[in-house]
Amino acid sequence: MKIYIGSDHAGYELKELVKKHFEGFFEFVDKGTFSSESVDYPDFAHQVAESVLKDSDGVGILICGTGNGMAMSANKHAGIRAALCWSPEIAALAKQHNNANILVLPARFISSDLAMDTINAFFKAEFEGGRHQRRIDKINFQ
Ligand code: RB5
Repeated sequence: MKIYIGSDHAGYELKELVKKHFEGFFEFVDKGTFSSESVDYPDFAHQVAESVLKDSDGVGILICGTGNGMAMSANKHAGIRAALCWSPEIAALAKQHNNANILVLPARFISSDLAMDTINAFFKAEFEGGRHQRRIDKINFQ
């Protein structure tokens, strides 16, 4: 399973820590940004969202300052369920109930330890299906 990961400048440092922390456990495909120089978060959110949609097993991690810009941008793509998570409990529920395919982290409001625990919880959890699938099927509308 490949994890497509992206950040803006505010999330760059945490992105690098995440890749290092999970090295050997996960295969990361880094869509940038590649420095702390100021950039625009939608450019990276769209790249990660498109990669996740093209890969049948694809999942993503997006990181910006608050997480909101990344979540808003990624969720413009039909089929993307990007969940802003700041605790292991919320991350587990984002997978169990919402079958989130992109985990979004708020770099400026989460410690790196908590970010790693949040990522672990997300990938350990399993989608519960059933009534949750019915609700997911109602997310997209014309
Ligand atoms: C960048 O300053 C900041 O606006 C961005 O990282 C993010 O928080 C936007 O939602």
